[in-house]
Amino acid sequence: MVRIAPSILSADFARLGEEIDSVKTGDLLHFDVMDGVFVPNISFGLPVIKCVRRVTDMPLDAHLMITRPVNYAGRFCDAGADIVTVHLEADTPENIRAALLDVKRRGKKAGLSIKPLTPVSALEPYGELLDLILIMSVEPGFGGQSFIPEALGKITAAKALARRFGRGCLVEVDGGINRVTARQCQDAGADILVAGNGVFTARDRAEEIQILRGN
Ligand code: DX5
Ligand code: ZN
Repeated sequence: MVRIAPSILSADFARLGEEIDSVKTGDLLHFDVMDGVFVPNISFGLPVIKCVRRVTDMPLDAHLMITRPVNYAGRFCDAGADIVTVHLEADTPENIRAALLDVKRRGKKAGLSIKPLTPVSALEPYGELLDLILIMSVEPGFGGQSFIPEALGKITAAKALARRFGRGCLVEVDGGINRVTARQCQDAGADILVAGNGVFTARDRAEEIQILRGN
């Protein structure tokens, strides 16, 4: 069964504790960290993860849409993130490798994300370091965008690559996940689906999470 990671990007930050409680039936909690440089938007950072860590036992899944993530990946681990995913496009290969190694050294799970126009093959050199591949099905920067159908082929290719990497490397998909695209992504091989608007705009969030899971 596919796992659901509600993205707090779509939550009401004036009531964040209650909002997190309303999606506690999710499998992970997804944090879309944006620096206004790598993506044309600014969201939130370390203090939010530190506070959320105190109020939930859910695995915290930090998606760093930031430039030069090697400078921060370790700090997100120390703040309580269980998974830290950086973008391949955010720095030099050497620094991306260093960021992934820093996460692994701290005993956390390391993920690598690619934007819609970046080919899956670009992930190959990092295979031995990856616990997670994050396929962006929208241009990173904003919630509530429409799913890019070309992502489906990339999910299948990423799943094949993840199997070759071994060690249980998972494929996560982020952007435009709803009841229709959730099934398409699951059929394409996705293991985890990030959902912001799809969950937080639902009348019954727990029910929506179940529906997106496919049961
Ligand atoms: C884009 C963000 C969004 C978010 C999910 O940078 O990463 O994809 O997590 O947004 P929805 O589910 O609202 O498309
Ligand atoms: Zn994300």
